Amino acid sequence: MHNVQNKLLEWYEKEGRHSLLWRNTTDIYHIYLSEIMLQQTQVNRVEQEYYPRFLEKFPTLEKLADSPLDEVFACWSGLGYYSRARNLHATAQTVQNSLPSDLKELLKLPGIGKYTASAICSFGYKQSVPVVDTNIARVLKRFFALLDVKEAVIWEKAEELLNHQAPREHNLALMDLGSMVCLPKNPKCDECPLFDECEGKNEPELYTETKKKEY
Ligand code: ADE
Repeated sequence: MHNVQNKLLEWYEKEGRHSLLWRNTTDIYHIYLSEIMLQQTQVNRVEQEYYPRFLEKFPTLEKLADSPLDEVFACWSGLGYYSRARNLHATAQTVQNSLPSDLKELLKLPGIGKYTASAICSFGYKQSVPVVDTNIARVLKRFFALLDVKEAVIWEKAEELLNHQAPREHNLALMDLGSMVCLPKNPKCDECPLFDECEGKNEPELYTETKKKEY
């Protein structure tokens, strides 16, 4: 697995989306906010409009907690799925000034599911935990040729492949590979650093999820 992990990291160093704003902060609240916004909204729109605007108005969890929900909704307008804004506000009020670093504690907070909790632990707290979202799941299903498997199996495979030397970069690399190379339709297998070892390379589209799923 080391060989594969190294090839993935090398690819990420060259091709990864390193300049994304939330990859260049250590503020856990900012990272958390980005993950919530990115759940249903495209990266470009989040980065160019909503994320900077929201943080200008609510730069800290305390400021968010102390603001009326109406103002949070107003700032969320255009993003849709207002339950996300309601949950953000409720979480800010629950935790007061800092988000927990424990996965299980994070899961107790409103609007934080397994994906978001893992993303906060990996990208924010730099813990050695696997992360699975739709893009990563597709990469893993193809790489390990997994058909009709339960979600738990995908998490196990993510753990198996995890690079404990550079867990954060490894997870970001899988995410970028899924959104830039290992595409749902017409994946760019000729550009893939994991092509040699990929068990699904002969029929990649066999592993494409047809219904939308939340991790
Ligand atoms: N970087 C960290 N989390 C991300 C996400 N959910 N989408 C795109 N880039 C990210």
